[in-house]
Amino acid sequence: MTPSSPTCATAPLGEPPAPGPHHVVLVGLMGSGKTTVGRRVASALRRRFLDADDELAIRTGRDVREWFDGEGEAAFRQAEAGVLVAILASAEPLVVATGGGAVVTEATRRRLGADDVTVVWLHGDPAFLASRTKPKPHRPLLAGDARATLERLFAERHGWYAEVADLTVDVQPAFAGPAPKDVLAADVVAQVVAHEQRRAAS
Ligand code: S3P
Repeated sequence: MTPSSPTCATAPLGEPPAPGPHHVVLVGLMGSGKTTVGRRVASALRRRFLDADDELAIRTGRDVREWFDGEGEAAFRQAEAGVLVAILASAEPLVVATGGGAVVTEATRRRLGADDVTVVWLHGDPAFLASRTKPKPHRPLLAGDARATLERLFAERHGWYAEVADLTVDVQPAFAGPAPKDVLAADVVAQVVAHEQRRAAS
């Protein structure tokens, strides 16, 4: 027989459970560092990290490129939104890097506005992001003039990023010094912890 847990045995009766930590979800344009920073944030918070683009491939059997090439962007957006909902159904608080366009879907913006999620916008000027973003197979939208594309996407999306964000972190200052992704991750962790403390106190 398993001995009863001393924590349960001594917990005061009738006290509501302490507010649990929330999922931490990183949003922002391609090249803002969501995946690299997200991994480091997860490690610092001792949480599991999931990249939504990778999860899409695992859960649907098709990667981003295959969705774009085979079904088109609209179908990709639907699949992307479904995968994010499924990820966030986890009872375990996660750190999640979204694809840069996740916020274009209204249902996703509503989901990110729920109380169990802390959304961090990694904000960067599109020209700056273009200077350090490489075209990759999972980024069909970046073929061609990356700077013009990111400027257009920023114009279309910045209102949505601002709408869902609980916290906004400017990525550019970190790149003025060494180990920018470490600096950014430390900044995100500090802001998330302070945010959760404010939430718990209110
Ligand atoms: C997209 C960003 C990509 C990927 C897809 C679409 C976008 O993810 O989801 O190519 O619309 O901004 P990353 O932001 O991780 O590169």
